[in-house]
Amino acid sequence: MRRVMIDTDPGTDDALALLMALNCPDLHLEGITTVGGNATLAQTTQNALRLVEYVAGERDVPVAIGADRPARGSFSYAYHVHGTDGLGVNLPSTARKPHRADAVELIRDRALAAPGPITVIALGPLTNVAAALDGRPDMAKAIAAIVVMGGAVEVPGNVTPHAEFNIYEDPWSAHAVFASGVPVTLVGLDVTHKTSMHRDSGPRWFESTSASAQLGNRILANSFQARSDVQEFYLHDPLAVAAAIEPELLTYRRAHVEVMMDGEERGRTVACYGDGPVQVAGGVDVGRAVEVVRSLVSK
Ligand code: RIB
Ligand code: CA
Repeated sequence: MRRVMIDTDPGTDDALALLMALNCPDLHLEGITTVGGNATLAQTTQNALRLVEYVAGERDVPVAIGADRPARGSFSYAYHVHGTDGLGVNLPSTARKPHRADAVELIRDRALAAPGPITVIALGPLTNVAAALDGRPDMAKAIAAIVVMGGAVEVPGNVTPHAEFNIYEDPWSAHAVFASGVPVTLVGLDVTHKTSMHRDSGPRWFESTSASAQLGNRILANSFQARSDVQEFYLHDPLAVAAAIEPELLTYRRAHVEVMMDGEERGRTVACYGDGPVQVAGGVDVGRAVEVVRSLVSK
């Protein structure tokens, strides 16, 4: 099984991605680290704890608290997309408590633990991941790969015409991660804006009676109900998890990726193709990708 850590800001699409990872027999989810972004850190942490409780039962999946702000300034949040609590559904409360150590310590601890390399799947602003790498060259060796949901390389952004949300929220940390030398797979809007579920295919979103499937259906139904003008639920974070499970779902070009730090191009991701530590996803097998999401959320 592939050892993974997930850094996340749940978030409706993060929630589906976490359900996939928790249900996937090919992944060993060693921990979840939370970051602000879609909602406040307190909300994303509570959402992560409740999601684990809801589907993982007695499984010990530590949830460690990370950054409540980016490397500079503050998060701008996305309540208009994810609802006032970041999920849009009321999950039962949980007695689960956050991990005793913080996100950076958990990432470092799991990366250095035996046996063998670990993959970090980053579904929110890259603040925690950059901090875990900062000043620790041993981390850049211990982390085999970072799969990042983020960026908009050959397509427009979703926060500004140039920038995708996760990168825009903390461009400084994104730059540090892309320059760290750790192999990065960049799953950006170039592929996630092609991968979605339509509001009208409701009953066929997740066709099973499992708690996970029913929660997935509630998340999508409530999201569409709250946003009457929206026709597609983009599977941003679920596609990043799917790519970690089946890399061949996507096609890639190797590049160095620069991040614009300020001004109107803040958060823009610019690829210099050729060689480099980042494989930029440009194509996606949409049918297979949606099937991977459906089958794992429906377990
Ligand atoms: O731009 C989409 C990304 O920003 C997703 O990770 C979504 O959850 C938000 O964090
Ligand atoms: Ca996210």
